[in-house]
Amino acid sequence: MIEGAKRLHTVEEYYFSKKLREVNMLKAAGKPIINLGIGSPDLQPPQKVITAITEGLQDANAHKYQSYQGLPELREAMAGFYREQFQVHLSPMTEILPLMGSKEGIMLISMAYLNEGDEVLIPNPGYPTYQSVTKLLGAKPVFYELDEANNWMPNIMALEKQDLSKVKLMWISYPHMPTGAQANYKVFEKLIDFAKRNNILLVNDNPYSFILTDAPRSILKVNGAKEVCIELNSLSKTFNMAGWRVGMVLGDGKHINNILKVKSNMDSGMFYGIQKGAIEALRCSKLWYLSLNSVYEQRRALVWKLAEALNCTYDKNASGLFVWAKLPPYAKAEEFIDVLLKNNHLFVAPGTIFGSQGEGYIRFSLCASTEDIQEAITRVL
Ligand SMILES: Cc1ncc(COP(=O)(O)O)c(C=O)c1O
Repeated sequence: MIEGAKRLHTVEEYYFSKKLREVNMLKAAGKPIINLGIGSPDLQPPQKVITAITEGLQDANAHKYQSYQGLPELREAMAGFYREQFQVHLSPMTEILPLMGSKEGIMLISMAYLNEGDEVLIPNPGYPTYQSVTKLLGAKPVFYELDEANNWMPNIMALEKQDLSKVKLMWISYPHMPTGAQANYKVFEKLIDFAKRNNILLVNDNPYSFILTDAPRSILKVNGAKEVCIELNSLSKTFNMAGWRVGMVLGDGKHINNILKVKSNMDSGMFYGIQKGAIEALRCSKLWYLSLNSVYEQRRALVWKLAEALNCTYDKNASGLFVWAKLPPYAKAEEFIDVLLKNNHLFVAPGTIFGSQGEGYIRFSLCASTEDIQEAITRVL
């Protein structure tokens, strides 16, 4: 018997991978399941992006290994995107590294900075990958609790009372997944000061920056941020390109170099055609963002109705690709969603998959058509 490595015991199969097997079995049995669980954009990327990848295929250079750092043109497009959208100025030569999605970045950053036994501050609730990658590398997750009363912002005073001597890295993700809370620049400034005082690398995972936000923000806009701070961004949600796997990490050249050292030993450059498509996406005008958000606004208005029909409450100021809804008192998230799946054939994510602070909440995805959401409302009324 050839055994898997010990590190496999530190993680479990991803919740969605397990639950989707159950959902698929119900579908195979003929149940008309509506999936409001997963944040995988169902809309199309801009047409010019599809044209660029198609034309890219015909280029004689398309099939060769590509540079580990991506085409200079791609890094320039990423720099232009940050300059235009966030007024953040970055060198395309040294301060930007294209990635295969921001998820890849979570692993690469962790590999570049964590030694066994190091501690990592992780939001609860938060994206489960921060925790699993930390454990896979033999480092220790230290959860910081977010709650509704504090608008899901870190309590820095409480953090500062803890022993932080072993903490090397802190994950934040604003606009926050799963709650949709938006951090303002005051919050970012305080977090950066906290990171400086405690010698912690602060990473803002920012893939939802353009979905239903009041104003897109980058933590790198704060003066002095680059000393202790890096940011991840992604084309997955902003341009409906989740399956293409294009993201980026941005920050000071010394951090980008450390991450490149890991990446260049793990994979080779991104497929040429995908880079050409990504360049076109990053050059989209304001119209793209307006039209994308008008679809999500319509869907969100219906999901709010669905949440109300289920006696849930929600925050109308929240942003992002999800509606984070509070269940009626005493309802348990996983029991609630199991009943919805069984009785109404609706699949919704329980808040608990994002951490214990998600108990009492469920998360609806906006990646479903208005017809499907309307049908979901009819089923629960
Ligand atoms: C908070 C957060 N970070 C990162 C990711 C991964 O995104 P990408 O497709 O860029 O790898 C997701 C995807 O759902 C996410 O919710």
